Amino acid sequence: MDDEILKLLRESPAAFLSGEEISRRLEVSRTAVWKRMKRLRNLGYEIEASTRSGYHLIRSPDLLTPSEIKPILKTRWIGKTIHHFYALDSTNSKAYQLALHGAEEGEVVVAESQEKGRGRLGRRWFSPPFLNLYLSVILRPKIPPHQASLITLMAAVATADAIQKFSGLPPLIKWPNDILLRDRKVGGLLNEIHSEMDRIHFVILGIGINLNMDEKMFPKEIRAVATSLKIETEQTISRKMFLQSLLQELEKWYTIFMKQGSAIILKAWRDRAHLKGRRVKVTSFGETLAGIAVDVDSDGALILETENGKRKRVVAGDIEYKSSKFKAQR
Ligand code: BTN
Repeated sequence: MDDEILKLLRESPAAFLSGEEISRRLEVSRTAVWKRMKRLRNLGYEIEASTRSGYHLIRSPDLLTPSEIKPILKTRWIGKTIHHFYALDSTNSKAYQLALHGAEEGEVVVAESQEKGRGRLGRRWFSPPFLNLYLSVILRPKIPPHQASLITLMAAVATADAIQKFSGLPPLIKWPNDILLRDRKVGGLLNEIHSEMDRIHFVILGIGINLNMDEKMFPKEIRAVATSLKIETEQTISRKMFLQSLLQELEKWYTIFMKQGSAIILKAWRDRAHLKGRRVKVTSFGETLAGIAVDVDSDGALILETENGKRKRVVAGDIEYKSSKFKAQR
């Protein structure tokens, strides 16, 4: 009912709406309307109330509820259905369950906080309430399973572009799909796939972006390597406007991929990763390798030229840069 009350209040932005009118239009008691107004205020809505004239919405909080996102959404199909939660264990787990039960392509799960936010390689993703963005998008691409990594590359490009458009700062994609600003991690992707040998049932695109964290809010162990858009731009970021921008970029890049194929995605990823020719240290399944990064292949694997001149294909792991992107370009 929150959504319906907000819709009514927004329909008459300049005027007051009487409690009687709201209770009549929503077919609920005046007490129920009053209770809802109280709840909305507790959520951060500024609602003026006058015994004579009724209620008037003055300001909305920066929440990621469908009633806040829908009016600003510019996409055609991504985010037309938004499943919003104040707290979840993980948006990826929720989206996976929804997809198993038939949720459609483009449905989005978003949470204000996650209790068990999941990162790559079994790590945790720090997910405190009302500060950042934690979302999962359900996609059902008609591509063979071996191309699923391209969806991850596509999503990294879209996320980097949303960050660039929104902040004016140039993000760097760090293999496999970390998003960095000033060499610190601002966002990460965890994509999960449900498929058969020759057919993808669905892909869950899980995206976490640090938007409004201050440095001291990060746990000590990641403070030196993590950042947020607020730290980098020295401005509070509107989470709902950022979400709108991100969904728009995702729709754009996914459509490009589906219509034009992989080459354009790989080029866009390479242009934002500046990986080629950089000296790196790679940790993969407990093994550490040093060498020069040659490229990523169409499966998203890192091609490394090791110190003895041999080429190695690394499918998962972490990299550490040993030379700056400027020195290493060739
Ligand atoms: C990484 O380790 O870099 C990936 C982090 C991915 C975090 C996001 S937050 C939304 C979605 N739900 C999760 O549990 N994880 C992803």
